[in-house]
Amino acid sequence: MLLSKRFNAEIMRPTVKPVVPNFSSGPCAKRPGYDVNQLQLDTLGRSHRSALGKKALALACSESARLLGLPADYRIAVVPGSDTGAIEMAMWSLLGPRGVDVLEWESFSAGWVTDIVKQLKLPDVTVTKAEYGELPDLERVNFDNDVVFVWNGTTSGVKVPNGEWIPDERKGLTFCDATSAVFAMEMPWEKLDVVTYSWQKVLGGEGAHGMLILSPRAVARLENYNPPWPLPKVFRMKSGGKITEGLFKGETINTPSMLCVADYLDALGWVEQLGGVRATIARSESNLKVISDFVAVNHWISFLAKEPQTRSNTSVCLSVDLPEEQVKAMVKLLEKEHVAFDIGSYKDAPAGLRIWCGATVEASDLKALLPWLTWAYQQVQSPAAI
Ligand SMILES: Cc1ncc(COP(=O)(O)O)c(C=O)c1O
Repeated sequence: MLLSKRFNAEIMRPTVKPVVPNFSSGPCAKRPGYDVNQLQLDTLGRSHRSALGKKALALACSESARLLGLPADYRIAVVPGSDTGAIEMAMWSLLGPRGVDVLEWESFSAGWVTDIVKQLKLPDVTVTKAEYGELPDLERVNFDNDVVFVWNGTTSGVKVPNGEWIPDERKGLTFCDATSAVFAMEMPWEKLDVVTYSWQKVLGGEGAHGMLILSPRAVARLENYNPPWPLPKVFRMKSGGKITEGLFKGETINTPSMLCVADYLDALGWVEQLGGVRATIARSESNLKVISDFVAVNHWISFLAKEPQTRSNTSVCLSVDLPEEQVKAMVKLLEKEHVAFDIGSYKDAPAGLRIWCGATVEASDLKALLPWLTWAYQQVQSPAAI
């Protein structure tokens, strides 16, 4: 398409670049002011079961619970395998006694459907599906069943808008993979029985460890139900029919990285300093507003999420009115210019841009990025395009 059709004048090459061009959806940008030399590293080279190691791990649990405002009777643990490890250990340990409703609207939620249908081979499963950009019909969920869903679909930029669709009184358990949501979105804890997240998303921590949150109802299920399939050691959360309480006090199942733990504690300290989870949510929401304002006045770019109230304020997915190769060329060009790293859409998602707007991203960096988007959009259509 000719440039003249789209622009009256050639867009000048912007002069200001984002100070931090890291807009990846995970691992995400480190917090503003992050300095690896400031981490408290006295735990390194020591046993994670030493008093010092256990104290740091226990603090990772208790500070997370405090900052997130978890109900006092909820438990939280550091588990192996990042968010995937956390949600899979919960599904393998707890699913089976009831039918299961699974919501699928992008790649990660599709992964949990595969786990439930093809791996666990559960007989009574209802999958409620929607295409990329949409949310499944939440009214159709049967809460007599266990319900498995992601809070924020990282690969489509579609989130559930709130927890109002989840009844307080329900027979089944709710399993919520909230890895791109926790610390950036309001979580209605009482409506959620199993919640998982990782450190490398909203807090810009390190990969490898998952956080698993269990409600008292989930704990009761764990203690009263023995799944018919084998459970690997890294999934086991009980012994002698009782929950392993130590797991929720920093006694991890196997060896964690104490360097990652130190990094996570640093991130939690930053949350505290900012004023708590309200502040991290506000930062992420104002980041989304920067993008929304831009989309509102640029006809060539749009949100993949159809409904405004379902638009993610962390993994912001955008469609560009260009063929896929040109969108990919935009992404490459922005990377080459060191103005945006890793903003191509997820490999299984429709072609487009995905710009992380979580709390560790500065609005000023997003503002600096936007003129570059316009510039790159124009560049890839020029006859001499890369
Ligand atoms: C919604 C969702 N679930 C699961 C995962 C996998 O997370 P991890 O790599 O921490 O296991 C991701 C990663 O982006 C995700 O966005």
